[in-house]
Amino acid sequence: MYTFDDKGGRSVTLRPEGTAAVVRACLEHKLFSDNPIQKLYYIGQMYRYERPQAGRYREFWQAGIESFGVADPTMDAEVLLCAFEFLSELGIKPLVIQLNSIGQDERAAYMEKLREYVRPILTEFSPRDQHRFETNTLRMLDTKDEKGRELLKDAPKTLDHLSDESAAHFNSVRRLLDNANVPYEINPFIVRGLDYYTRTVFEITTDGLGAQDAILSGGRYDPLVEQMGGKPTPGIGFGAGMDRLLLAMQAQNVLPEPEPLAQAFVATVGKGLTEKAFEVATNLRRVGLTVEMEYQERSLKAQMKTANKLRASYVVLLGEDELAQQAATLRNMQDGSQETVPLAELPSRLAARTN
Ligand code: HAM
Repeated sequence: MYTFDDKGGRSVTLRPEGTAAVVRACLEHKLFSDNPIQKLYYIGQMYRYERPQAGRYREFWQAGIESFGVADPTMDAEVLLCAFEFLSELGIKPLVIQLNSIGQDERAAYMEKLREYVRPILTEFSPRDQHRFETNTLRMLDTKDEKGRELLKDAPKTLDHLSDESAAHFNSVRRLLDNANVPYEINPFIVRGLDYYTRTVFEITTDGLGAQDAILSGGRYDPLVEQMGGKPTPGIGFGAGMDRLLLAMQAQNVLPEPEPLAQAFVATVGKGLTEKAFEVATNLRRVGLTVEMEYQERSLKAQMKTANKLRASYVVLLGEDELAQQAATLRNMQDGSQETVPLAELPSRLAARTN
């Protein structure tokens, strides 16, 4: 957590994730009493006191969804499908969905088995993993430490210790994903870093980032709403690291062309035309176009350079000759074609073309 004392000596923690905050907001604003079935999303900065490295920041962006009120496995599949379709639409591939179930009430008994397995070899683990043994033994399973991984290869797995209900739930999620042609891998070492998860948990990885770095992850957290003071309300969702999505898209060459910063640039050829350019730009802006203009009477070459930087679709050229006829030269920056357009018609003609 990113925690520090402020000037008044109060301990402040910057929000590390969105799920608990969404639950808090739902309870505070009584969303569940209107309707316990809620599908919500958020986009915002999160903060964690990480050791910064590529794709791992102290301030990062998350886009997430949370779905409340449905305990049925259909919702697990719907949330996973939403993640899969979203990432597919961004053009990111391959998408490796790693799926696991960590059970619910049966977890305490399982943890005892895991502790029994680890206890005799505890001193062979890194200090960090030894600390996890005390605080949350389950999290030892997602250790990033090579030796720790090796030591836990044959440790008891949650999947082999699920209750009948949890096993049926997991099988149903798998069937729904199979039927929807969503590929996934079962990974018994996905246990997730946050403590509120129950049953279905998942992480999605791709090429271009470290194999350990999930671009999206989430799971079910059925007891959380009740733990935070609400009525029992199941929940499931995911968070996607937007910085990582962009890094992956960049590495995979699927970042779309950036949007133009201006649809039109009003250029002036000659001196004393800035006021006229402002009038033309104003008329274009008033029909909803995004317009930049020349303010400094620079050379036409410099102005065209600016228009290109703005990725303007059109340049409106104003010169003495054109203005004598109450017209402008309209240059299409895509194909280089030019035409003379009466100033009175310019706004409606440009608006029609750029829509
Ligand atoms: P999380 O796995 O901690 O889950 O974070 C979700 C995603 O945020 C990760 O898969 C990763 O892409 C991104 N992320 C996490 N830490 C960093 C970082 N330091 N720098 C850049 N990106 C990062 C959650 O936060 C849960 N609230 C997700 C969830 C929603 N579970 C249920 N609903």
